[in-house]
Amino acid sequence: MILAIETSCDDTCAAVVTSSGEVRSNLIASQMDHDRFGGVVPEVASRRHLELLDDVVAAALADAGASLDELDAIAVTRGPGLIGALLVGFSYAKSLAAAAGKPLIPVDHLQGHVSANFLEPEPFEPPFLCLVASGGHTFLAKVTEREGYEVLGSTVDDAAGEAFDKGARLLGLGYPGGAALDALAKQGDSTAYDFPRSYPGELDFSFSGIKTSLLYKLKALPEGEFEDVKADLAASYQAAVVEMLVERVKKAIAITGVDRVAIGGGVAANSQLRDQIREAAGEVKVPPREFCTDNAAMIAAAALGSTTGPLDDFAALDAYPSGQPAPA
Ligand code: KG4
Ligand code: ZN
Repeated sequence: MILAIETSCDDTCAAVVTSSGEVRSNLIASQMDHDRFGGVVPEVASRRHLELLDDVVAAALADAGASLDELDAIAVTRGPGLIGALLVGFSYAKSLAAAAGKPLIPVDHLQGHVSANFLEPEPFEPPFLCLVASGGHTFLAKVTEREGYEVLGSTVDDAAGEAFDKGARLLGLGYPGGAALDALAKQGDSTAYDFPRSYPGELDFSFSGIKTSLLYKLKALPEGEFEDVKADLAASYQAAVVEMLVERVKKAIAITGVDRVAIGGGVAANSQLRDQIREAAGEVKVPPREFCTDNAAMIAAAALGSTTGPLDDFAALDAYPSGQPAPA
């Protein structure tokens, strides 16, 4: 049995997962403190992790009916993410492991998103393509084993979730607004407005141009017309973001010959994205929402697949931030 801890962004997460991938508990304390700032404030996130983590871990153990003694190892996200936020979870996990005499399994956060597919029930086995689209990252990977993955493409600027959030904010839908934009888009005409599609590199993504395009469209609107066209703008904007994601998946299927596709990250909740990927792929896996967004169960799943295995000597290990390669 593994206790896993995840604090790479603004969610304080702990989970208990058995060696077969059965999730005994999966707790997520979402920090609402950031909403009024319209984005995650790193310093606020770190402080909240510090306040919440002890209780979240205790609750994860209690929910699982597990004691510290029964654990085989403690898994924790080592990076990438906000360094201050990561350090809270990483230091906590190291201390707890040292105090309890348990080995530590450091986990890469992105491997966690990929490994969410291996959790019970209905684990999805490689080979498959994995699209992860959240507020923090957007990448497409080829997965051939339970550990490791080949990144086929990733965003060169904003994440897809960020594109949804920024679009939603411009449309007055609050933060994070992906789900609200998705809902509003259902009432609009997706062909009403033309948004630019961008396809950098062979399989990379770019979402910065589209939000600028929305900004200019809004500025050009005649006085008083906004309410009438809001849903059309949302529908057209969403159609463009989704098309950019789906086109990349289709191209990756053509290049790799792998037509089994998993989608993860918060944007996997998008109804249009799900429908279109289902049309494009032979077989589609979307893990339950609680395993798609940032969570600790996926960190445990990655730890279970780790061939490096549990470490008894971890005192010198350090966390690593976004934009920095994982240290050896
Ligand atoms: O994985 P996640 O919870 O973590 C972060 O990266 O923070 O993803 C949250 C992202 C947000 O950008 C949110 O707007 C987006 O997922 N999102 C959606 C939908 N539901 C959540 N985007 C599009 N359509 C949705 N239905
Ligand atoms: Zn994530």
